[in-house]
Amino acid sequence: MTDLSREGTGAPSAASHAPYAKTLREGGTIEPVREILWGSAVGVRKYETPDELPPELRKLIVKLMVVQADTEFASIQQHRPWLDHAPTLEDRWIEARIVADEARHGLQACRILKDFGEEGQTWIDELLAKKEGEHKLDAFNMKFDAWADVGAFTCLVDRVGVFQLRAFQECSYGPLARAMPLMLSEEQLHLNFGANVLRRMVREGPKYAGTPEEAQTAVRRWYPRALDMFGHSQSETSRKAIEYGLKRWTNEEARERFVAEISPILQGMGLEVPPPDFDRRIT
Ligand SMILES: [Fe+2]
Ligand SMILES: [Fe+2]
Repeated sequence: MTDLSREGTGAPSAASHAPYAKTLREGGTIEPVREILWGSAVGVRKYETPDELPPELRKLIVKLMVVQADTEFASIQQHRPWLDHAPTLEDRWIEARIVADEARHGLQACRILKDFGEEGQTWIDELLAKKEGEHKLDAFNMKFDAWADVGAFTCLVDRVGVFQLRAFQECSYGPLARAMPLMLSEEQLHLNFGANVLRRMVREGPKYAGTPEEAQTAVRRWYPRALDMFGHSQSETSRKAIEYGLKRWTNEEARERFVAEISPILQGMGLEVPPPDFDRRIT
């Protein structure tokens, strides 16, 4: 076990514990970041309840949480058939794990919505009633027709989700900021799993499940939908979200970061990255 009491005893120098020195206090509690880190209210205490929020920010958080929860619940519907049909037992177990994680993320987003009273509850009821094909974003209304779709979806679409979550890290709304670390660590498993599925298809072919061509087809199917998920490049909402300290990047900045991260991963597997304007619906 890490000895947290060492700090201040004079034993090892403070410098040797530099990463912990700021975040851990006597007693081992983690000191949260309490102030807004960017935007027009930088340095002010973070918002902790819906009542404290400026009306425009309140609307923005509700809107973003509704979309967030919608994607979580939609992906459960998309993964569901593969719980019984994934090629290996281990793949089935990971599918089950992903579905459980997405359900927890949906629950977490709904808990945030619940704090918004009647308005939040109305959204939750609506979200839980949505059927396949009725979701907000196109990527979540498409079926996983082949195992390669599961690989491409988790590698690409979940990765966009991760970029959206990273944009909320240490944001100005405390309850949302505190939800990020666990969600991000769970999503990392989904991304790695997706990349592994595609990699194995390319390397092992039918010995595993599918072919390199199937992997490439799936990448071409999901990549444009993943890029679309970031939203319009000139979005006024994304500009406002930064100003309120809610998001760190504009839609276009986040999209560029995604492309920079995913391109070498796909190329390293021997897969082609589709051109940025290929089959796009939202630019
Ligand atoms: Fe999720
Ligand atoms: Fe995920």
